Amino acid sequence: MAGTWTPDSWRAKPICQVPDYPDAATLADVEARLKRFPPLVFAGEARRLKAKLAEVAEGRAFLLQGGDCAESFAEFHPDNIRDTFRVLLQMAVVLTFGAACPVVKVGRMAGQFAKPRSSDTETIDGVTLPSYRGDMINGMEFTEEARVPDPERLVQAYNQSAATLNLLRAFAQGGYADLQKVHQWTLDFVADSPQGERYRDMAIRLDETLAFMAACGLTSETTPQIRETDFFTSHEALLLNYEEAMTRIDSTTGNWYDTSAHMLWIGDRTRQLDGAHVEYLRGVGNPLGVKAGPTTNPDDLIRLCDALNPGNEAGRLTVIVRMGSDKVTQLLPPLIRKVQTEGRKVVWACDPMHANMVKSANGYKTRPFDRILEEVRGFFAVHQAEGTHAGGVHFEMTGQDVTECTGGAQAITEANLSARYHTHCDPRLNAQQALELAFLLAESLKEERVNLGKTAVASGS
Ligand code: PEP
Ligand code: CO
Repeated sequence: MAGTWTPDSWRAKPICQVPDYPDAATLADVEARLKRFPPLVFAGEARRLKAKLAEVAEGRAFLLQGGDCAESFAEFHPDNIRDTFRVLLQMAVVLTFGAACPVVKVGRMAGQFAKPRSSDTETIDGVTLPSYRGDMINGMEFTEEARVPDPERLVQAYNQSAATLNLLRAFAQGGYADLQKVHQWTLDFVADSPQGERYRDMAIRLDETLAFMAACGLTSETTPQIRETDFFTSHEALLLNYEEAMTRIDSTTGNWYDTSAHMLWIGDRTRQLDGAHVEYLRGVGNPLGVKAGPTTNPDDLIRLCDALNPGNEAGRLTVIVRMGSDKVTQLLPPLIRKVQTEGRKVVWACDPMHANMVKSANGYKTRPFDRILEEVRGFFAVHQAEGTHAGGVHFEMTGQDVTECTGGAQAITEANLSARYHTHCDPRLNAQQALELAFLLAESLKEERVNLGKTAVASGS
């Protein structure tokens, strides 16, 4: 990729999904203010995540990346942050204990406020207004006033991210994530469900293991790995004015980092090779993700690897595959083969959400849970056939008892969707559905281990 990189070099490139700010002076003023705010994350933490993702790329760990489709100002509440965090912890423990695989935990949290849209405008009853682009940009209410992009929202998004991250750090390091507390992470409305029961059975076995370890002298007092966990943040780097303002030089290495989150990804609509989003992200040292939808061809993927990971470092780049349950087994193999032949190091993650959207008869955007599981199964099957590691999963969920995706053990029907449909953007898995997904992942990972083991023996390696 030609040209010198600077935090603002993206401004000279073609850009998609950009809001139309009527007040450029206020936007410039807000950007100048943000540049003086403290960084939200430290470059050393981003490097630590990159090292953990390198383990995933090498087949020795699994990436669990999940959270809201879009965080919102209205739903900002400590209980919501806690409940999403505890479901992610439960999922991680199901995977770590169930599949004996280290899990890298990354939230779509503390910064996931800007949304790409399929259309710039929305029409309801003959009235056309600019589309809602996430709380960081404009308001969701269908009024002319709310839909005007307001730069001051960037400051509110920063403040909410800072407070969210502060609480997440406290939960992760302050004792809440202690493995001795696995039973307490279950939400009340999950406790009596089939998934709740399955989780309880596993937690009892984990207790026995912890008791054995304690008898050997390994307790949460002596072993920090039992008491605390690493939890990282991520979001789509869509609104580059914000990301640029959060870009700082790391004093220990002299390199640029985007300090708005540990990991940033490029969405399926903004991954143009010569576009502004690729230009911006290629210059920061954070671990990166890039979505790969049905239109991604193998050559483009290699060019994206060249642009975003020229040093071919393991852990730098995660390819987040979102093909749809009906296409993944057909479209993923050519991508994997090309990446393997070209010797590129990537983490392969499965986003089983974004290409499985349907509209219900009563007008809700929903995702059938069966299709989500089917895409995950297809993703694992392809990796098994190619002899590569199904490295992770990227999904939208909440700790709240919502009815947004149909199916699952509660058998949510289209008619049920209206009961608790709260999302600001795409439909999310609720806690029970998320746990069910985790159990499927644990089984698939165990199978992968057995099969890759067999391949290694068969090939004599
Ligand atoms: C998202 O992750 O919320 C999203 C919009 O995904 P994609 O870019 O894959 O459509
Ligand atoms: Co989404």
